[in-house]
Amino acid sequence: MNARDFFAALPIPIVQAPMVGAQGTELPLAVAGAGGLGSHGCGGLGPDAIERDAARLAESGRPYALNLFVVAPARPGGEVAAAAMERLAPWYAELGLPLPDAPNDFAPDFEAQFAAVVRAAPPVASFTFDRLSADKVRALQGVGTLVVGTAATVAEARAWAEVGADAICAQGAEAGGHHGHFLVETEASFVGTMALTPAVIAATGLPTIAAGGIMDGRGVAAALALGASAVQMGTAFLLADEARTSAPWRAAIEAAGDDPTRFTRAISGRFARGIETRFMREMRKVEAEVPAYPVQNRLTQPLRAAAVAAGEAELMSLWAGQGVKLIRQGRAADLVAAWWREATAVAQELAASTAARR
Ligand SMILES: Cc1cc2nc3c(=O)[nH]c(=O)nc-3n(C[C@H](O)[C@H](O)[C@H](O)COP(=O)(O)O)c2cc1C
Repeated sequence: MNARDFFAALPIPIVQAPMVGAQGTELPLAVAGAGGLGSHGCGGLGPDAIERDAARLAESGRPYALNLFVVAPARPGGEVAAAAMERLAPWYAELGLPLPDAPNDFAPDFEAQFAAVVRAAPPVASFTFDRLSADKVRALQGVGTLVVGTAATVAEARAWAEVGADAICAQGAEAGGHHGHFLVETEASFVGTMALTPAVIAATGLPTIAAGGIMDGRGVAAALALGASAVQMGTAFLLADEARTSAPWRAAIEAAGDDPTRFTRAISGRFARGIETRFMREMRKVEAEVPAYPVQNRLTQPLRAAAVAAGEAELMSLWAGQGVKLIRQGRAADLVAAWWREATAVAQELAASTAARR
């Protein structure tokens, strides 16, 4: 089945975004059960865990997506890691933690992860942070997997089209979590979903999934009106019963003030959007110097894990998108059904109100 037919055949064209750190297999299973497409973020998993989780998702008989970060092996010099640890030392001290030794590995091996995804042969595999080679795209298509490439700019969408991707996930700058840009300089890569989605469709002609800032049925209807084949929603699921969002993260979402999110690269070495914390504010002055992903991400991992255990939200990563104030709680299946009801109603109201103007 080609990607256009696949998304047209989904009972509800809502893709639950892969969210490393905020979901296991429960959330994608619940979304799939409701008629959407559930995604499993496998960026932090080794090959065995990927295959185990894929088998669990496949058992449901519903389509699902696996997602990976496209990351080259990092081999920072000793001085780079030492300087990065020195910047983090006061934060480790604040939590009463000894400064960990510099690790040997900074991220799971992408080649091994990719091979596991090919063996699992999921209906859909999506990728972010970089594009795949054409050979890798063909390897997935050869096992019957549709390949979705994340693009934050039109140039990146074209780059995915060149290697043969089946569909594009157009990630607007409103989106929560990591910003997937990989070609264009950072500032030029912050394009809003409303501008990006139709521009990607016009440039590539590929089925496009709109992501970023879509929080309810109004957003779903708006993205479909722009020509999207489906929408991808992440932040909107963070308070779902089946999400693995930690208790302090949930509390920070509920307590957030107006317009609470910012981009930072201080946490992982790659720009990501989250609710602003004291860590983000105080690290801003050295933010440009921190080593690139995955090095900084790995070096802050023990700190963030300890902060979760201590309930210290100001030292955690509170990834969330600009729509965070519109989050609702509840079972994922109920949320998906409600958003789709709303989208249908909005489309009907718009059709009636535009007809009435003539
Ligand atoms: C907590 C969180 C974790 C995320 N993790 C991933 C991930 O592992 N892989 C990925 O491709 N995108 C990830 N994203 C980005 C989403 O795929 C998507 O672009 C984004 O959620 C859409 O914007 P929204 O958050 O406004 O709905 C994450 C987003 C959030 C909020």
